[in-house]
Amino acid sequence: MNSDIQIAGDWLDIPHLLPPVPAHPSTVSGFAHLARAIAADRASWEPLVEYDATSRWYHRLRTGPGYEVWLLSWVPGQGSEAHDHGRSSGLFTVLHGRLTERTAHGQRALRPGAHHVIAPGYAHDIVNDSLEPAVSLHIYFPGLTEMPFHAVPGAQPATTAPALAAPVTAAPAAAMFGGAGG
Ligand SMILES: [Fe+2]
Repeated sequence: MNSDIQIAGDWLDIPHLLPPVPAHPSTVSGFAHLARAIAADRASWEPLVEYDATSRWYHRLRTGPGYEVWLLSWVPGQGSEAHDHGRSSGLFTVLHGRLTERTAHGQRALRPGAHHVIAPGYAHDIVNDSLEPAVSLHIYFPGLTEMPFHAVPGAQPATTAPALAAPVTAAPAAAMFGGAGG
């Protein structure tokens, strides 16, 4: 029995039947694809990375309609402090090294190769508690315009703590990565 593809003819001609690949992502899977592509293209980001023991380092790697891509570095001991991302959704991945994410529900190791999705209001604290520097890639859509900090006590696993505390401060976008970010 012939398949539809066989009936249609040379399967190498199929691309003309597929919808055009959008120039910019607009879905979570599209942003994950973008993150994966950037991660694989080390030459596009690795030379840009700087490690700064005195202040968090960040670099806006790319912008597109309604989204921003940030490159962040973390020397051992640096962390974001507990925060959320306002009305932005996001997706992040570790490009190099290892990070730890802490939320009110516990903590997990973040390693290269995995993508983590952030919903609006999702609060976390990211820290490099390893002995090696780390680099991460963060995509925010829409672009990050506020980053309220939370009073999650020490961002400890909150088996007995209530749900994440209400935001206590809100960093302006221009300063959001100065002492935190992620
Ligand atoms: Fe974050």
